[in-house]
Amino acid sequence: MTDSKDNIAHQRKDAHLDIAKSPEGQAQIAHPFDAITLTHHALPDCALGEIDLRTKFLSYRLASPLFIGAMTGGTDRADAINHALAEVAADKSIALALGSQRASLSQKRSQKSLRQQNPSLVLIGNLGITQLAAKGGQDLALRAIDDIEANAMAIHLNPLQEAAQIEGDHDWRGTTDALAEFIAKSPVPVIIKEVGAGINAALATQLDALGAAYIDVAGLGGTNWTRIEVTRHPDTPEGAHQSNPFAPFLDWGIDTATALRQARAALPYGKLIGSGGIRHGLDVAKAMALGANMVCAAGPLLRALEDESGHISQNKLGATIDEWHHQLRLACFLTNAASPSQLKLQP
Ligand SMILES: Cc1cc2nc3c(=O)[nH]c(=O)nc-3n(C[C@H](O)[C@H](O)[C@H](O)COP(=O)(O)O)c2cc1C
Repeated sequence: MTDSKDNIAHQRKDAHLDIAKSPEGQAQIAHPFDAITLTHHALPDCALGEIDLRTKFLSYRLASPLFIGAMTGGTDRADAINHALAEVAADKSIALALGSQRASLSQKRSQKSLRQQNPSLVLIGNLGITQLAAKGGQDLALRAIDDIEANAMAIHLNPLQEAAQIEGDHDWRGTTDALAEFIAKSPVPVIIKEVGAGINAALATQLDALGAAYIDVAGLGGTNWTRIEVTRHPDTPEGAHQSNPFAPFLDWGIDTATALRQARAALPYGKLIGSGGIRHGLDVAKAMALGANMVCAAGPLLRALEDESGHISQNKLGATIDEWHHQLRLACFLTNAASPSQLKLQP
């Protein structure tokens, strides 16, 4: 990885935050969860207030299967966001996934204080597969774990996003070997995720065989990186050049509902995370019914935390998480499921 690539990665962070919050950064397809219905059950044999959302994730007991998905790190604004996310996650006893640690590690901006201030938070580190496969990438990933005393490490697969970036990594040779090497040596469980274009069933099977602890399908339906990257360069010659070939690919990917359904069919006992376009607690319930063991959201929780003027409100994010938990309980109650893991689609 070159210094100039690291600098560009650093500058890119804040632009990504702004566009990810805007409608331009969202998939423009019919929402994949709108076609999924949970079947109403008119005689539930459970108490709404007693529905138990507590979930075991890795070896940790959490308040629910919902967690905050990977977003950011490595700039002043990103650090402020991560500190606020960490406090809310710790307060609600849910896990937090950090965004790529590449920018923070390359700028020597340790994120240790997140761990120091939240010692019992279940914190997931993050690095891209192309950084892992680059020279020194294995050590970088181990330093990422060490920096925050990560409970698990996520490696993201983002070929569409890299292809849409002018400065992106376009040579993916050797990435599978790098992943296998890292899974074998990582001191913590490794989660493999996409970033909004989905993981197909055959790849999920391959990642499971490689030893991934969880596979996050991160499908199409919410934050859309092709749209974000094209929006980032609207007026430049590069932008014009990029947006033309990318026009047919703007909503490329496997939608979250399809990805989850197919990965679950291929891996009846695999550990799956459902994400990509989760908008509320009913979508969390639908993702569980489609086969997810855990569910996370990124963009919508960023919008709940940071308003349009950039003002951060931990209370608002906390209230959103409470509301999603309530909606998840409602979905269980109305389908006669005693807990989210019992949510099922009708055959
Ligand atoms: C502002 C922002 C930054 C993100 N940065 C990362 C990242 O650094 N690493 C990663 O694995 N995923 C990253 N993601 C992708 C999310 O973790 C998630 O896979 C994707 O956004 C789909 O979820 P959503 O529709 O709930 O946003 C980012 C998402 C957002 C909104």
